[in-house]
Amino acid sequence: MDPRLQAYFERWRGEVDRALGRFLPAESAPPRTLHKAMRYSVFAGGKRLRPVLAIASAEACGRPGGKVLAAACALELIHTYSLIHDDLPAMDDDDLRRGRPTSHKVFGEAAAILAGDGLLTLAFNLLAKNGNMNDSSAVRTVEIISSGAGSAGMVGGQARDIEMEDGAWTKLPRPRRIRVLRSIHEKKTAALIEASVLAGAAAAGAPAGKMKRLSDYGRKIGLAFQIADDILDVAGNKALLGKKGSDRSNRKLTYPAIFGLETSRKKARDLVRGAKRALAPFGKRGWVLDRLADYIVERTY
Ligand code: IPE
Ligand code: IPE
Ligand code: MG
Ligand code: MG
Ligand code: MG
Repeated sequence: MDPRLQAYFERWRGEVDRALGRFLPAESAPPRTLHKAMRYSVFAGGKRLRPVLAIASAEACGRPGGKVLAAACALELIHTYSLIHDDLPAMDDDDLRRGRPTSHKVFGEAAAILAGDGLLTLAFNLLAKNGNMNDSSAVRTVEIISSGAGSAGMVGGQARDIEMEDGAWTKLPRPRRIRVLRSIHEKKTAALIEASVLAGAAAAGAPAGKMKRLSDYGRKIGLAFQIADDILDVAGNKALLGKKGSDRSNRKLTYPAIFGLETSRKKARDLVRGAKRALAPFGKRGWVLDRLADYIVERTY
C-alpha cells in the first residue's frame, strides 16, 4: 500500500475503532450473549474500508473526517451484519471469517442472526443520535445508507447471489449470465461502497455535480472490489485472507467463473482507471480516494 495512504488508513482505523467501542453496548449489558456476539464480529479485525471511504470523501469535499464518524461507524456496523448473515449455513455456509470462527460457529445460529439484526438497527440509532449534522443532511445520510443496504442494494444483491448458486446460472445463455453477474455484484457490494462515499459527501453538504462524480467513482471501485474478492477467493492466500474461499464449492456466479482470472483482473483494473477519472474535479483534495482505488485491486486480503 502507498505509505501515505497507509498512515491515513491507520490513523482513521484507530479513530473508528474507538468510536465503535463507545457506540456498541458493553458485553456486560444484558442480554450478554447478544452483545458479546455483536462485539465479537465488529472487533474481529476488519479492514474498515467503508468508514475510511466515507471519511476520505467528506474530506475531499472540505469537511473534517472527525465530523462524519457516526456515519462511518454506521456503515461498518451494517457491513459487519452483512458478513455475519452471509456466512450462515443457509447462505454461504462458511466457518471462518477474519481469521476466526464465524459468529454462528461460536454463538449458534439464532444468536448470529440476532447479532446481525442488532448491528443493523444500531447503525440507524447511531445516525439519529450522533449525526453531528443539521437535520436535512442527517436525513439525506439515512436515505443514502438505507438505499445502499436495502433490497434495492446489498440485500437485493445477496438474494440474487443465492438464487444463482449451486450452478443455477449455468442454465442461462452467456449474455444473460454476464448481465446477471454484473447486477449481483453492483448490488451486493458496490451499492454499500457507493453509499459510503456518498454518505461522507452528503455530510459535507457536497453539491449535486460532485455527488454525481462520487457516485460514479463509488460504483466503479465497488464493482472492482467484488471482482478482486472473487479473484482472491480462488487465487488468494487463505491465511492472509482469514477466510477459506467457498465460491467454487458453492458453484457461485463469479467473475473468475465466467471470464477466468486474467480477464477478471483486467476488468477490475479498467474500472479503477475509470473511477480515478471521475475524481478530476477534486484535484489534490481527492488524493486519498485516488490511492484507495488502486489499493482495492492491489490488496492481498
Ligand atoms: C468482504 O468485505 C465482503 C465483501 C463485500 C466482498 P471486506 O473484504 O471489506 O471484509 P472485511 O471487513 O475487511 O473483513
Ligand atoms: C458478500 O460477498 C457480499 C456481502 C454483501 C456480504 P461474498 O460472499 O463473496 O463475501 P465473502 O467472500 O464471503 O467475504
Ligand atoms: Mg456471499
Ligand atoms: Mg460469502
Ligand atoms: Mg467472496
